[in-house]
Order: sequence, then structure tokens, then C-alpha cells
Amino acid sequence: MVDAAHTLENLHTETRSFRPQASFAAHANATAYEYKKAGVDRLEYWREAALRLAWHETFTEILDWSDAPVARWFHDGTLNACDNAVDRHVREGRGDRVAFHFVGEPGDTQTLTYSDMHERVQKAARGLESLGVGKGDRVAIYLPQIPEAVVAMLACARVGAIHSVVFGGFSAESLRQRIDDAEAKLVITADGGNRRGEHLALKPLVDEALAASEHHPEPCASVDHVLVVRRTGQKTEWFSGRDVWWHDAVDPQPAEHEPVWVEAEHPLFILYTSGTTGTPKGLFHTTGGYLTGAAHTHRLVFDLKPETDVYWCTADVGWITGHSYIVYGPMINGATQVLYEGTPNTPHEGRWWEIVQEYGVTILYTAPTAIRTFMKWGEATPARYDLRSLRLLGSVGEPINPEAWMWYRRVIGGNKCPIVDTWWQTETGAIMISPLPGVTATKPGSAMTAVPGVEVDVVDDAGRPVANGEGGYLVITEPWPSMLRGIWGNRLRYVSTYWNHFDGLYFAGDGAKKDVDGDLWLLGRVDDVMNVSGHRLTTTEIEHALVSHPWVAEAAVVGAKDEVTGQAVVAFVIVRGDAHDIPDAGEEIAATLRKHVRKQIGALAKPRTILVVSELPKTRSGKIMRRLLRDVAENREVGDVTTLADSSVMTAIRVGLEAGTGD
Ligand code: PRX
Repeated sequence: MVDAAHTLENLHTETRSFRPQASFAAHANATAYEYKKAGVDRLEYWREAALRLAWHETFTEILDWSDAPVARWFHDGTLNACDNAVDRHVREGRGDRVAFHFVGEPGDTQTLTYSDMHERVQKAARGLESLGVGKGDRVAIYLPQIPEAVVAMLACARVGAIHSVVFGGFSAESLRQRIDDAEAKLVITADGGNRRGEHLALKPLVDEALAASEHHPEPCASVDHVLVVRRTGQKTEWFSGRDVWWHDAVDPQPAEHEPVWVEAEHPLFILYTSGTTGTPKGLFHTTGGYLTGAAHTHRLVFDLKPETDVYWCTADVGWITGHSYIVYGPMINGATQVLYEGTPNTPHEGRWWEIVQEYGVTILYTAPTAIRTFMKWGEATPARYDLRSLRLLGSVGEPINPEAWMWYRRVIGGNKCPIVDTWWQTETGAIMISPLPGVTATKPGSAMTAVPGVEVDVVDDAGRPVANGEGGYLVITEPWPSMLRGIWGNRLRYVSTYWNHFDGLYFAGDGAKKDVDGDLWLLGRVDDVMNVSGHRLTTTEIEHALVSHPWVAEAAVVGAKDEVTGQAVVAFVIVRGDAHDIPDAGEEIAATLRKHVRKQIGALAKPRTILVVSELPKTRSGKIMRRLLRDVAENREVGDVTTLADSSVMTAIRVGLEAGTGD
């Protein structure tokens, strides 16, 4: 926990406020009464929210906090996540409602009703069982954004298996780490996916991940089978006995499968996220509480009217946003959704707006980095499409700057749509801080206040709440149903990461400010976590990747401000003096190392800039002073250097860079 000061420099002084429109408020799912109800009896509030789920056996106890900080919510109830997301709608006569309008990047489409999904999840559940997967087994899912990704997740839940979705942009090495940590029995993948008009291979990366390699002397021992969806038709090496086609193992199965009823605290999924120590943490969520949080917030924050809305969350199912606000929350609420495989500018920069127009999207949930990209492309593009169907806009993943907020409101929302800036994390499972549409007057750039039933605060170094007008660390002060239950296989790391900073408070890792009204402004991370295009990365994991290259003696990575991606990865490297094959030019070194990071972690971690330097700024105890490197990376006057062991280092770096050794 360092460096809150740098984020606190950005204190906003925003005075604009947008009151909810009466016409919206008149029909809104949320009313101010929600806050009141939750304020009077928080646990009762969550009990009622949980009772909206379909329980096999209803719970009697709401919260057991006796083993804090590991919570147990609704623990004596049993249910099934897939039954809630799919079967229930069919059972209650909503089978004909469209669950997904799928749009593939090349232009192929599929319309899947809840009945279609029911058929598919039952077949897939049978397929999984035929491959020996059952309750408690872990399944890694490494798929493009196609319907099978949703079906695979739900089928795991249906048989009581625990899914671990790995975003398709991660490398073979990252996939292997995640498979090993969770001891996954099965990997579900595809031959490939479509990305920017090209076929991106996935199966070869799975093959590579499972084989012995430089970092892994033995082939992966836990995986019995690889289940492969045919998406692109790319040729793929086949390991008979291990590899199975989806169309052979799943499609011929009978569409009859009784869900496996699990206890509310049965783990539903593991999702890996960057940890400050460099190795990714397998955060895990359980069933009853997580589903309650996801479904409840989805209904309130997005004001979903399932009969009429067309909801589109642009996240990938490989991230928590896709888990909570594509798969579980919206499907439990019976939403009709758009699922899009590709990138926003394939084949043209109007692709998203064309989709909004075509399907009459009413609710759009995306990230500030996307909004800033569209701003760069110009408002003439969205202006060519009919966006009048939109009635609510959401933002997630990083702080949204007021300019982007205003642009989103005006250009995309036609000045009429409420904007919900939602703050939450993989750890929180569901939205924690957000305006409620129809209730909250919004300020551009502020996520406003905690949602009903959630208690947050901003505290100082000693854990004392700060006054309005002041900044500090964001904490969550009471347990909430969708909170993570831990780090897979590592209770101690869970406690020390989140609960040891401030006694009894969950430390989120973000800086925040309370404005004079007590509304919250998120100021970014106060630890070594970076937020690049809404993707979470840590400085240490990229540093590890860099030093694993034989040319690199030492590396320091910082997240520097970037107009489009929020932050960008900037790496400072010292190359080995004794290696003779290192090229002279900085650009050549940079290009090689960038490729290396891509191979080690994935394209999302590639440094934007790699600067070759002769020394790194360190304190007397040997700690790299990233704050100073950030000053250089952001082209600022370098700050206080008095704690450096050798204060001439920064001058040397500056002079070296000006002389052109940087990239
Ligand atoms: O720094 C916060 C930022 O994203 C982090 C969580 O990242 P991840 O677990 O990948 O989940 C992202 C999607 C929920 C937080 O610690 N963050 C997320 N939403 C916001 C945000 N920062 C400011 N405003 C937000 N709305």
C-alpha cells in the first residue's frame, strides 16, 4: 500500500450534476426506498434478494461470519446456478424469449432462446459427465466470445464442477500456470477465434501449455481431456485419447439432465487476477451469495425490464464483468442479450453502433477505454447510426474521466440516458458503488455511493474514516453476499492481501475521495496493480517476464497515464553488459522484449514503451522507486529524490533517454 499521494493529485472539482428524469424514475426498478430498507436491516435486505433466486432447499441462516474473514451466506440452502440462469425460465414459461443474439466477427449470427440454451446446457452437462467431470472438479475454459463459452460455464455449474475461465488473450504459459494452480481436469477450448479479420489459433496454445517446456519439465499431469469447439476450421494437431471434439462429445447427447444441487457455499468458479507478488491469484466465488449479488445488482443498477430490454455488455466472458454481467446476473434475470465475438473496428469503426441499431440495444455496458477510443475516432461515426433505442449506459473497469462521461452521455446517449459508473472488482463479485438509475443525481466521473446493502468508506493510514472533501483508501466495512471466499488453496494470502491493512475492513487497493457531499471519486490503484484498458496487470509479473529474457539484467515497470488505455505499461530495463549478442539499437531490444512479454503473459501485457537505461532509482534498502520512473514515463519533472541511495541516477536516466537510448 504505497503512493496514495500520486493518485490524490487528481482530485476532481466537478460541479455538474444530472438529476434523474421523471419519465425514467416513474418506471425504474430502483427507488430511494431500497437504501432505506437496506439501512434498517441489511441482512434482511439480502435475505429478500436471495429469495428471488430459485432454491432447491431454502436456507434458514443468512450470514455466518464466525470464521471471518471467510463468510458463509445462506449456507444451509441448496441450489444450482445453471438451473437459475436457464431451466427456471423454461419452467416458468419464458423458454421462447431470446437469451442471446450472437454476432460473430465475420458476420455470422445465431439467435438462441432460453429453450435453446436449455437444450445446449443439458447436452453439454452430459458431455462433461461422459468425460469424467463431476462435482468439485475444476475445468479450465479457454474460448473465444462465442455461445459455447456461456454454455460451457453453465454446464460446469450444472454438474457442480468449478470453472476457471482464462481470457483467450493469455499466453500458453499463463494458461499453464492457471491450469496447474487449479489442478484442472479438463480444458475446453476451440480451434481458434476471429480477431480483426483473422483467425487466431487457440488449440495450439493449449497443446503448448500442456506439454513439457522450459518452465515445466513435466507435461501437465492433471488434465485428462481437451474438449475442442470447431469455430474457425483451422487445422490442429490431434492427441488421440486426450482430445475430443465438442460436436462428438456434446452434440449427440440427449438433452436431458438433472442439475446437481449444491450447497450455497459450493465454489462456482475460480478466476485468476493479478496479484501484487507476481503470481496470479485464483480468487474463488461460491454459489448462493455470488448469484444473489450478481442478479440483484443487475436488476437494480441496469434497471432491466426483461420483456422489452436488449442488453449488451461488451466485456469478454474471460473477465469478472463477463461472469457477473453476461452469464450469471442477466441470465438469472431472464435478459435478452447481445454477445459479440469481435473488436469494435472490424470491419469498420461503426461496428458497435451498427449492432446497437440492428438489435435495438437498450442498455449498453462498456469500459472507459472503449469510450475514449470512440472519441478519438470521432463522433461522425456513431452519428451515422440510429442509437435512439438506448436508454441506459454503464461504465466499468477504471475511473471514467468527466470528458469521456460527458461524451458518452451526449454522443451515444443522446443526452437522455442515465449513466451508471459502476465500481467493483473481481473480488467483490458484483457492483459495490454505483448510482441507481432513476434515483441518484449523477456527477460526471463519480461512481457516487455504495449500492443498497453494501457499506464502504474512505479511510486514512490509520484506518479512520476521512471527512468529506478528503481522500484516502477505499474499504468495505461489512461482509456482502458476493464477496470472494478466498484465494484458491491459500487462506493466508487471502487474509494478508485484503484484511491485514485495516483491522476488520476489506482493503480494496484503490484510492478514493469523498467530495463535499460525501459522494465517491475513485482515484485508481494505490498498489502495484496497473489498469490497462480496464485489464488488471501488476508491475511485478511483467518485470518477472522481462528478466526471464537472457538479455535483461534488471527491469522496472510502471503504469503511465495514457489518453486511451487509461494506463500503459512502460518498462525500464538494464541490459546485461556481458552478453555479446545484444543489438546496439534500443528499438531492436524493445521489439524483442515486447515479443517476449507477449509470449510469457499475453498480448495484453506488452509494454507500450521499453526504455533501456544504465541504472534504476533505488532507495538505500534496495527498493525500486517507481514513483520517480512514473515521473519520467509521464514526462514530468522528477519528484523528490532525497531517499535515493544515489541521487544522480535520475539525471543519468534523463540524459540517457534524451541521447536516444530509449524506444
Ligand atoms: O481499480 C479499480 C478498477 O478496477 C479494479 C478491479 O479490477 P478487476 O478485478 O479486473 O475488475 C474490473 C471489473 C469489475 C478496481 O480495483 N475499477 C473497476 N471499476 C471501476 C474502477 N475504477 C474506477 N471506477 C470504476 N467504475
